Amino acid sequence: MGDDQDRATALPLNRRSLGGLGLGWLLSPAAAQGAGLGSLARTHGVVFGTAIQARYLEQDAAYRDAVATEASLLVPEWEAKWAALQPEEGRFDTAPLDAILAWARSQRIPVRGHALVWHNAMPDWLPAALAEGRQRALGVLAAHLDVALHHARGQIRDWDVVNEPIANPPGSDVPDPGPGPLRDTPWLRALGPSYVETALRMARERDPTLRLTLNEYGVEEDTPDAAEKRRRLLALLRDLVGRGVPLDAVGIQAHLQLARPFRPEPFAAFLKQIRSLGLTVLVTELDIRETHAAPQDLARRDALVAERAEAFLACAVQGGARTVLSWGLTDRYSWLATEPAVALPNGRVHRGLPLDADYHRKPMWNGMARAFARG
Ligand code: G3I
Repeated sequence: MGDDQDRATALPLNRRSLGGLGLGWLLSPAAAQGAGLGSLARTHGVVFGTAIQARYLEQDAAYRDAVATEASLLVPEWEAKWAALQPEEGRFDTAPLDAILAWARSQRIPVRGHALVWHNAMPDWLPAALAEGRQRALGVLAAHLDVALHHARGQIRDWDVVNEPIANPPGSDVPDPGPGPLRDTPWLRALGPSYVETALRMARERDPTLRLTLNEYGVEEDTPDAAEKRRRLLALLRDLVGRGVPLDAVGIQAHLQLARPFRPEPFAAFLKQIRSLGLTVLVTELDIRETHAAPQDLARRDALVAERAEAFLACAVQGGARTVLSWGLTDRYSWLATEPAVALPNGRVHRGLPLDADYHRKPMWNGMARAFARG
């Protein structure tokens, strides 16, 4: 932790008094750095937010300050997933989610929900239950939605109802062997391709005022596999919308990779096609993965990350995305630092979020601010 952060956590953070006395350096880095991305984005009609975790809110004052300074929308990175909410069948644990909801209320920051139907973060009992047949699977899904949607209904008004339903085409990082356009998951095997429609209809039945979002990744870049995944996703969206299946928005995760090219034109055309279906577009999980050959020089690394963030976000915002969330704020807690499948070798840590590990703004922060201004 940086020196100023240590001092800040040791003192009462009364920003107005300390700031007013010219002692801003005593504040946490975030508070001492001026208006956050959320307030900057808002002046251009964009809502900026980020994923957070309850455990970091609890243990890290600088984290709390950074989120309060930068974010105008929050999404639980873990606490609203099935494994967290219903670790055993019939036993719901809402405490971690409630900690996030309570803090968000105290900061007057809205929260979106992630993720109701997904093939990851499944508690051990769930795949086994789904494999017992269609009626069992429908019962399990209904029981989870009953609790998840009812419990947070006063605060979470937008959910990622179905997460990552499209099969990864050949050429993807982790291509799916299945021949079909839908990812081979326990949900698909239990309920067939209609599981996406079933989940959306069940969510709408439980709360007609919710914004229902379908969330996906790997559709952003200028590669043959991303182009095919865009095609597959658009085909699913056209089918759902054409049959009147309740769906309001599409979340584009935007886990971008510098190893893969980005060109605005195909992505802008993709967003236009989604919006022509009457669907809202959100950027839901922005972060940027460096290449293993990333330069040694931090300034050069940060410039490459900032350039991609700005190019992508300018295209997304001009293409109609009015809600943008990053998947965390600080490199310190990014999944990119801990997930073996994506981490950098030799102890290097991805610099793929707007704040560094000591909560100081990086060029990526500035690139994002410029992109919001160009929107
Ligand atoms: O398992 C413990 C649990 O027992 C404990 O209560 C909890 C306390 O916070 O931590 C849990 O640990 C890990 C959890 O992250 C919280 O850090 C889980 O083991 C680990 O699997 C989980 O990984 C998350 C992953 O989704 C799977 O849910 C990552 O943090 C999260 O960044 C990642 O996010 C996904 C999006 O949901 C969907 N899009 C892709 C994105 C990146 O994979």
